[in-house]
Amino acid sequence: MILLSPNPTCILTLKPLNPPISKSKPPTIFCKSEFKSERGLEFDVGDTFFRHESATGRDLGVLAASLHKKHNNKHLKVLDAMCGCGIRSLRYLVESNADFVLANDADDVHRRVVLSNLSKRVSRIEDGGNGRRRWVVTNDDANRVMMECCLKRDYFDFIDIDSFGSDSSFLRSAFGAVRFGGLLYVTSTDGYTSGGHRPLHSLSSYGAYIRPMPYCNELGLRMLIGGAIREAAVLGYYVTPLFSYYSYHGPVFRVLLRVDRGKLPISRHYNFIRHCTECGNSEAISWDKLGQLNCPCNSNVLGSLVVSGPLWTGPLHSESYLKEMLNLAEEWGWIGNNTGKDLEKLLKYMIDESDPQLPFGYIKLDEVSSRGKINSPSLRSMLSSLQKNGYSASRSHIESNAIKTNCPMSMCVVIAKELQAC
Ligand SMILES: C[S@@+](CC[C@H](N)C(=O)[O-])C[C@H]1O[C@@H](n2cnc3c(N)ncnc32)[C@H](O)[C@@H]1O
Repeated sequence: MILLSPNPTCILTLKPLNPPISKSKPPTIFCKSEFKSERGLEFDVGDTFFRHESATGRDLGVLAASLHKKHNNKHLKVLDAMCGCGIRSLRYLVESNADFVLANDADDVHRRVVLSNLSKRVSRIEDGGNGRRRWVVTNDDANRVMMECCLKRDYFDFIDIDSFGSDSSFLRSAFGAVRFGGLLYVTSTDGYTSGGHRPLHSLSSYGAYIRPMPYCNELGLRMLIGGAIREAAVLGYYVTPLFSYYSYHGPVFRVLLRVDRGKLPISRHYNFIRHCTECGNSEAISWDKLGQLNCPCNSNVLGSLVVSGPLWTGPLHSESYLKEMLNLAEEWGWIGNNTGKDLEKLLKYMIDESDPQLPFGYIKLDEVSSRGKINSPSLRSMLSSLQKNGYSASRSHIESNAIKTNCPMSMCVVIAKELQAC
């Protein structure tokens, strides 16, 4: 039976798992197949959890893994800890040219689909007759897989954890299973918690008490990085974010971290954030200043000061790393010549966001217009006026009608009013 979906890349087939031998045999059990294609690679999603919208997150992972192999000039060993149908594993093997991928998913119902997707495209044993395996499929809890690797001292260069919700229990075992200098690509999909609606939940998951703030989706990324910093510190490691990516489908918060041995100076970018709802400004508060919490605007409106943390208050990305990703994407023909405009735009926005002069958070233009009682200024004119006035300013990849800037809110309102008067 073949069902043709409206999407031309997708064909639904129901394949018999146990073809009937005679009419008297029990009814055939059908197993769903649903074929898709991503970057020219065909695969079956079967009954697994698969989101086409996560393709950009997969692109970013593949580019990063490939750069890792190039930089280290050695074997690239990848763990796809929650592989679903195995599309990431397939892409790490084919596109990043990983030397070995362990494709794991706790749900063994996915096994047939993963095996079929990988074996159709990549030989299980390395070419060249050395008998080395290029990939293995396991069905176990991700924590168990990573802990066993840690005990065997069998480390990975790149670990992709595509988890649901705000399950941070994977962080500790991932740190145990990644090589020093290796990369961890971690996930949160809990927009409710990053929105400040479950502060006790964020406290238990990421060690951060998160309150509602205007740039909550950036806070989601900072909360995740902060949680990783905390877990890394327990083991005597520190992490550096190479890129941080938010996608509203889900929502999904994804962060790529480089893991190194040593301690992050406790004051360095692992702080609290204070936001004043009266003046609209935010500031990072270091641990030793927690006793001096008041806003320079001296607002005496009760409850106007909102504090969240501790979380990561430093740069979300490494500019040089993103530039390398952009160059590689161009080299591979993923962007340029009118193709891949979304990926190109995303990487370029992230590069702009990496300006070290830019603080955390963003200012929504709707808030500027409501404070100034004016129409919302255009993003382009606001950016150029801020820069002409000597401020740093960029778009935000997270919020389309917002700017990242070191200009205080009151001055943003003045500039927006001037623009309106023009
Ligand atoms: C978001 S889906 C993965 C999607 C896939 N990575 C992709 O890009 O299409 C999450 C997967 O994690 C698996 N999973 C959930 N809890 C797990 C655990 N504790 N250990 C391993 N896999 C788990 C689920 O079966 C599910 O397939």
